[in-house]
Amino acid sequence: MYLVSPNFSDILKPNIEIKKFPDGDTHVYIENLSSYQGEEVSLFHRLYPDQNDSIFTAFLILDTLKRVGARTTLVSPYLPYSRQDKKFKEGEALSAQVLCNMLSKAGAQKLVTLDCHFLKKEGDFEYGGLKIKNISANKLLIEHAKKVLGEDDLEVISPDQGADYLVSDFGGKSMKKIRGEYQEGDEAYRKIEKLERDFDIKEKNVLIIDDMISTGGTMIKAVENLKQDSAKKILCAATHGFFLKNSLEKLKEVSDGIFTTNSIPNPAAEVDILELLKG
Ligand code: R5P
Repeated sequence: MYLVSPNFSDILKPNIEIKKFPDGDTHVYIENLSSYQGEEVSLFHRLYPDQNDSIFTAFLILDTLKRVGARTTLVSPYLPYSRQDKKFKEGEALSAQVLCNMLSKAGAQKLVTLDCHFLKKEGDFEYGGLKIKNISANKLLIEHAKKVLGEDDLEVISPDQGADYLVSDFGGKSMKKIRGEYQEGDEAYRKIEKLERDFDIKEKNVLIIDDMISTGGTMIKAVENLKQDSAKKILCAATHGFFLKNSLEKLKEVSDGIFTTNSIPNPAAEVDILELLKG
């Protein structure tokens, strides 16, 4: 059985009602709840944007289904907090573990997600007490790039070694990203000091693929670095596109094309994920 949250309405027809109480608390209502009793349920609900609100809403839906003994698989294409799986300095929260643990406790028997940052490969995993099926959008992104270019001649590059698994099965190469300390101020952000590589790109079309484009810092630096060679065209792609800090406009200026999947709705979402999630 399928349940679809309103925040998935661009892909599937919603059948869960989510409203706000006047004070801002979230109200979740599942019609005919008893029909889900003891059933296998796939719950399509995004955990981003508005991650803290969307995560709490997920807890409410999962718990409601748990009360009638449903066995719920949560289908959320992007897992927030997945970049905080390790401590960079003592005293930091291990947010990825906390979130997975809480989703499991709330009633998620499994999470189906795409290119989860800390897993770094496709497959079935258990993390923070939560079973996770991680699916990669890399093949779809590469096929899309070939359509955009109108030819098959394409070199795939990842901008850091964490994303190497996205390109390694396609003869791709990876750059090395070096981040510095956290910068001063209210935002928790570690600046990128440099990108290094030990390969050349000569007279080839290039597709740079990453799991996500957030502030765009990584992708912009990767394009600028590869432009020092004589590449024909440079395209940029990611599974998850946030495009914070006006980075979509900046990437359009420096590259020959930019696209993502619709895991997070955004103006560059050209690759549909529904078949991946159902498969
Ligand atoms: C981190 O290693 C990720 O794979 C991405 O490279 C990173 O999160 C992208 O963030 P930003 O767009 O802010 O550079």
